[in-house]
Amino acid sequence: MKGSAGSCLCPPGLTCRRAIPSLLLISTLAGLHGCDGPQSALAPAGVEAGQIANLFWVMTIAGGLIWVAVMVLVVYATRPRQRARFHPRSTRWLIVGAGAVFPTLVLGALLSYGLKLLPALRDPGDVALHITVSGEQWWWRVRYQLDNDESVELANEIRLPVGKKVEFELESSDVIHSFWVPSLGGKVDMTPGRRTRLVLQPTKTGTFRGACAEYCGASHAYMMFDVVVTTEQEFRTWLDRQQEPASEPSSEIARRGQILFVANGCGACHQVRGTRARGRIGPDLTHVGSRLRVGAGMMPSTPESFERWISETEHIKPGVKMPSFGMLPEDQITAIAHYLSELQ
Ligand code: CUA
Repeated sequence: MKGSAGSCLCPPGLTCRRAIPSLLLISTLAGLHGCDGPQSALAPAGVEAGQIANLFWVMTIAGGLIWVAVMVLVVYATRPRQRARFHPRSTRWLIVGAGAVFPTLVLGALLSYGLKLLPALRDPGDVALHITVSGEQWWWRVRYQLDNDESVELANEIRLPVGKKVEFELESSDVIHSFWVPSLGGKVDMTPGRRTRLVLQPTKTGTFRGACAEYCGASHAYMMFDVVVTTEQEFRTWLDRQQEPASEPSSEIARRGQILFVANGCGACHQVRGTRARGRIGPDLTHVGSRLRVGAGMMPSTPESFERWISETEHIKPGVKMPSFGMLPEDQITAIAHYLSELQ
């Protein structure tokens, strides 16, 4: 392995011949390390993701074995001494057997296995919960359909009870987005003018990351959400809390922030249930302080993050519809940020 300047790129103490397998092993291990974490289809935490991960491994291992077999045959067949041994009749059988029969059987079997999973992934069956998620530029509007025919709206965070089947109705108000929580299941497009469906059944508690999997504009890469899977009891407590109107601010600075929030017209786009802010364009902020992140996955939920978001909105998320409010005096931004943080 020589660099362009003629110097060897191999690690010191290793000859190039011995270094290549070591480098391959290191890069493979580094690649496999990326298969873990809260946003990996290869670390399944749901029934559907488990089936998809199995399909991936079956395809990868089968493909790998066939590749090795073909390479062995290629090496064997191209050795000069072997060439003379091939008889025209055996060559014909090799072409028919290995060139037609074998691929037909293997590809047919792999295709049948893949297709067999589809009905299971599409069938809603007994569903415990209905959630509508709408893709917006660039955030997620989340609506829980309650048993009493009412609904509760939030944004950029979804909580689910472990072990229960949940049906998502997916829609979009502007362009095509794609809803994807790799740890829980496959991705489904959100197309304007029609509703698509996805059923997920988490099997492990924890916090997982979802993302938009379809290029949808300038801030496509900044369109994330958290999926928090908890026990059924914790989930019910959380959902009951989400249905309640916003709590009154408890600190002096947050009370001032509430007045400034209304005075600066934030309520024209945002709703804070129980107050005069009833906007429907932007995310519902009734319990925004209880969410894990600010700005659809951009920053941890702290008063400082709210401050940054309010004053540098367009800088943090290019093309976002909310204008930056950096022209407000710093103490006013701090007060509004504290108010939002207290909306637990
Ligand atoms: Cu929404 Cu990409």
